[in-house]
Parts: sequence; structure tokens; C-alpha cells
Amino acid sequence: TIFYAKHGSPMLIGVNEDNEKFFASSDSPIIGLAKEVNYFEDGDYGYVTKEELVIYSKEGTKKEAIYSLLATDKLSAQKDGFRFFMEKEIYEQSDVIADTLIGRLGEESVNFEELNPKLFDNINEIKLCACGTSYHSALSASYMFERYAKVRCSVEIASEFRYREPLMCKDTLFVVISQSGETADTLETLKMAKKAGLKTLVICNVDNSSMVRLADACILTRAGIEKGVASTKAFATQVTVFWMLSLYVAKLRDTMNAKDLAYQIHLLREVPVSVKVADTMHERIKRLSKRYLHGHGFFFIGRDVFFPLALEGALKLKEISYLHAEGYPSGEMKHGPIALADPELFTIALLPQHLLYEKSKSNVEELSARDSTICAISALEFDKADDFIQINHCEDYMLEFFQMMVVVQLLSLEISVRLGNDVDMPRNLAKSVTVE
Ligand code: M6R
Repeated sequence: TIFYAKHGSPMLIGVNEDNEKFFASSDSPIIGLAKEVNYFEDGDYGYVTKEELVIYSKEGTKKEAIYSLLATDKLSAQKDGFRFFMEKEIYEQSDVIADTLIGRLGEESVNFEELNPKLFDNINEIKLCACGTSYHSALSASYMFERYAKVRCSVEIASEFRYREPLMCKDTLFVVISQSGETADTLETLKMAKKAGLKTLVICNVDNSSMVRLADACILTRAGIEKGVASTKAFATQVTVFWMLSLYVAKLRDTMNAKDLAYQIHLLREVPVSVKVADTMHERIKRLSKRYLHGHGFFFIGRDVFFPLALEGALKLKEISYLHAEGYPSGEMKHGPIALADPELFTIALLPQHLLYEKSKSNVEELSARDSTICAISALEFDKADDFIQINHCEDYMLEFFQMMVVVQLLSLEISVRLGNDVDMPRNLAKSVTVE
């Protein structure tokens, strides 16, 4: 007999035709083993034997299990010939972004069947709250909400928000972002927002997760199961959802004309192609990676939405290579960090052709003048760089964003491989952080 109780952290039980039972914290580890799952509620307790599952609610009354079918797609839980899940997930981004877009793009409007437009009635601010990579996608979203939908937008790190006695106003839409839907700090902020009477929305990859069950409304990112601890395709789909959502809100608030909206939708349709990994690109990054295995640190720098991407690039590298890396807004380097510049400081410069190119370029030139080793990522040749990774020319900076995202993901991957690290299960990290 196994006795169990659930409080705070996620827990489910899966069963199969042979009446085998599996406890787990999320669906993915038991796909292919169990057929159906029951998600426990906070306060549930009971016991399980070979013959029966007994559940009591926190009030002490016996209750029936409510089973839902588990995805059977065991394939998505396998590496499919790739060396690592992370690599497979980087290559999958084109397909999963196409899934994220499907059924949501009209000619001049974005549709989210799962949303009631009333969610945005009387809303004067959008507050985004998340951790880690999801926080980075939220940061990029703040640029899009203000630029396209002209709505005030603020972004919070969940572990900070929880304890800083924040002011919560009823005209704020509270949005949490999470791949897993189980991150303890983010979940807690959602509970706080609900308690304060705010409207809530979750952008999440895992259906049936705690956040999805709790929020008033939900948009699923449709990235499929993400096994690599270092998030890649979840980030890609989150940014895609945010881009669509900012246009959806722009239409509701009438802040963008039909022609511009149609153009943005045309660009969105181009994203799956822009994230396809070309063999030549991957080979080039593989070769370059050998030059970046030492040094005293990395600066990933970018402006505007490329700043959150710089943060994300630095986080990816830190997580799986164990090298020190920081993300910085390019314009901020001269306010202190440039003091570190020397040949052993590696600068990964994000230089989009279609957004503040001259400004960003001059920031990189300042670093180059101080002899920092520069690896520039751009569609335009840059002669001050020691290394140059060329992305394809495209018509808009958001398409450059997605191309550069793939480059920084692959660069981290290849550096980590050369250092002999466990790419999918880096030291000290867990896929889902269900404790604070
Ligand atoms: O499941 P979540 O998106 O809420 O997870 C948040 C972070 O723990 C997560 O993004 C973490 O930073 C990843 N390891 C990043 O690759």
C-alpha cells in the first residue's frame, strides 16, 4: 500500500490496462506507460493498492478519481536520431510554431477561440509575471503590447513579485507565462492576483497543469512535450503567442489599421520558415564553437526585443555550458560593464538590420575598440567582428529575432557538447521548479 497526500506541488496518478499505477508530477514521464491520469487537488490524500485507488478530499470525504486520457505520442518523448532532446527541440521549432499559428490567423485579424474578448474590457494595463525563460518571452511581449496595442505593460519576476507587497488594481489583466504550468513562484502570483480580484490569463504549454486549471482564461502554446531542461521550443511558441496576442489586443483597441494588421499577419506566417535550421548554419556554428570554450565571460547584447533575446541567449549558455554569461541592453554597456572588455571577454552581438541597426552597431564598435572578442550575428556583414554568423536577409526585425534565436540556441548547444556536458540534464537544474 502506498499512502499519499498532495499539498502545493503537482501530483497525478496514471493507470494502464494492466492496472499498473504510476505517481508523477506531470504527464511527460509516464507517456507510453500509463493510459489515463487523475490529477490530484490540493488537500487530497489517500492510498493506493494493486486493486484500488482511494481518494479523500481535504474535508475528509471520499471522492472518485476523474480520469482523462493521456497523450499516446511516445515518439515525441524519444530523440528521433538527434544527439540530444534539446537539439531535436531546436529542429522542431518550425513545426511547432506552425501548430501554434494554425487556426488563429485570419486575413486581417488574429483569432483566439479560447478567449472571450470581454477579458480585455476595462483593462488599462497588462502585467506579465513569470520565471526564467518564460520571463524573457514576457519581456519581449512588453515591447509588442506597447508598440502594437498601445496598452501599458509591465513585467515581473514571480519570485520577486510574491514578496514585495505589490499594488494590484482591478483594471490590470494579470498574465502568467509558464512552459510547465507548475512553477511554484509563478503559480503563487496567479493565486495572489485571483485573490485580489484581477482578471487572469495563463499562457502555458501543458494542458491540465495547475495554472491552466486556476486561471480565468488560457492560451496553450502547442509546443509539444519539451524534455530538455534548457527551454527552446517553449520560448519560441511563447513569443509567437505574444506576437499574435498583441495584434489581437491591437484590433480590440483599434490601435492598428487593417493594412498594418494584415502585414503583421503575413510576417507571422513567415516565422516557421525563418526558424528552419540550415545544415550550413549548424555546421558553421559547430566549427565556431571551439573558439568559445574559455575566457572570463560572455556578454550577449541587443536592443529593444533583442535585449530579452540577449538575456535568453545568456541563460541558455549558462545553463548548459556552466560558463559565465550575461545579457545586457547594448546601450547600457558604457555604464559599467564595458570595464570588463578585453580579448578574453566574448561579446555575442545581436545586430538586426531592421531595428536600430546604426545604434547597435556603434555600441559593438565601442566594445571592439576595447579589444573584446566579438561574435556578431546579423544579416549585414560587420567588419569589426572577430567572428560573424550571417542570418538570411528578411523583411522585418521580428523575423530576424526568430533567426537569431535559433543561432544562440545552437551556439550554446555546441559549446556545451564540446565541453562534454550533459546537455539535456545540466547539473543542479530541474525541468520544473515546483518548490520556491
Ligand atoms: O515551466 P516554466 O516556464 O514556468 O519554467 C520557468 C523556468 O524555470 C524555466 O524557464 C527555466 O529558466 C529553464 N530551465 C530555462 O531554460
